[in-house]
Amino acid sequence: MYLGIDLGTSAVKTVLVDDTQRVVASASRSLATASPRPGYSEQDPQAWIEAAFATLDELKADHPHELAAVEGIGLSGQMHGATLLDANLTPLRPCILWNDGRSAAECRLLEQRWPALRATTGNKAMPGFTAPKLLWISAHEPEIFVATKLVLLPKAYLRLILSGEAIEDVSDASGSLWLDVARRDWSDEGLAATGLSRAHMPRLVEGCAPAARLTRELSERWGMVKRPMIAGGAGDNPAGAVGIGAIRPGTAFISLGTSGALLTPTDRIAANPDRVVHTFAHAIPAMWIQAGAILSAASCLAWIARLLGAPEAELLAPLGARPQAPSPVSFLPYLAGERTPHDDPNVRGMLDGLSHATDRTAIVQAVLEGVAFALADCRDALAAAGLAVAEADAIGGGSRSAFWLAVLANVLDMPIHRFAAGETGAAFGAARLGRLAVTGEAIAAVCTPPRRVETFEPERALADAYAARLPAWRQLYRPRH
Ligand code: XUL
Repeated sequence: MYLGIDLGTSAVKTVLVDDTQRVVASASRSLATASPRPGYSEQDPQAWIEAAFATLDELKADHPHELAAVEGIGLSGQMHGATLLDANLTPLRPCILWNDGRSAAECRLLEQRWPALRATTGNKAMPGFTAPKLLWISAHEPEIFVATKLVLLPKAYLRLILSGEAIEDVSDASGSLWLDVARRDWSDEGLAATGLSRAHMPRLVEGCAPAARLTRELSERWGMVKRPMIAGGAGDNPAGAVGIGAIRPGTAFISLGTSGALLTPTDRIAANPDRVVHTFAHAIPAMWIQAGAILSAASCLAWIARLLGAPEAELLAPLGARPQAPSPVSFLPYLAGERTPHDDPNVRGMLDGLSHATDRTAIVQAVLEGVAFALADCRDALAAAGLAVAEADAIGGGSRSAFWLAVLANVLDMPIHRFAAGETGAAFGAARLGRLAVTGEAIAAVCTPPRRVETFEPERALADAYAARLPAWRQLYRPRH
């Protein structure tokens, strides 16, 4: 029996997976995000721990026998967040998250101080990443910078509480901007450019390697008689890749979570930081992931549902199964700024083309299309890195909408596949990593693709109609500094 714990942005989700890779049970607890100033995004690390423990307490109450048999645990997590700990390993302030835009000036400073940044990390310095946040802290909260003894990404903090050890996996570490992504090791030069050293960093392991055991005390709390091993785990996107068996070059998938991404595994680094392609080590050895990443995807649908005061399902129902034509309204999904392709933390969203005839269905359709157009920008950025994507699987909460996947198939002009609900997602991928760390089985034997249950094919006339709209949609973007 294996556990996968995904410390996401909107929730912590824990799944219990049996030896045949069937999800036996799952539990989740939602998380709140604070925005103390415009463009800021923070969470309290203590809230992660309470949410994760609550999911495990629930599983213990409902499935005590299965939980007792857990041998391996995998962790997945929202990437890039800066969790700063003092000498007693206590958080010094709320974690600054992946969608926080405050450190744009520090990104420029960091690239000046470390000219090899792009060549070493495969990424452009962007505010969501961890390193510029530390420069921001040193300038704006110097007493906290001085007191910082350890910098952890969100799921490494969870592991610290679960095991007592500070360990990170190389995929999540790629989002810090301190990783030499080819060597899969910390860059001393990068750390020095932010006034830090290896002493501030956790030890690194591969995602499917054993990291540390659950403490005795917590093993007893949850009745886990085998004192499970916790694997390295992965950032949420690489963990999602493991969950759907995206472990080979030539495959691609779209994640429609709070954030969105178009990702493709590679066996060599194919970086293109100038076009804001993201480079991450994969959760399995000697593989990488190249991605176009957008900051708001399913969160755009959640936003419009909040605004219109209606549940998402009620808004989606009138749209039917597929679009008849593009919405007359256009939407820029830059509610939290954007990474690919603009790297612009200050840009904001937009609804364009409103008229007296505009109804809420046209606006909801425009919101879904805007996210799809943003993913078309990601496709083009990957193509410019030599990575042509011809079809993609879809995962994440947004992939439950057939209408949205039909829009994506037509906007991207490629087949989009989806799986049966349940046995996909970052938590499931994390559980697979927990299994690999314990059994040492062949990666390909465990990381098999789930069965595709549906394929959304582009329809010529509709795909052409969207292609005709894309240039005008792109014209709506105006940098706002
Ligand atoms: C990836 C990214 C997001 C977060 C939160 O670069 O910032 O996907 O991992 O999901």
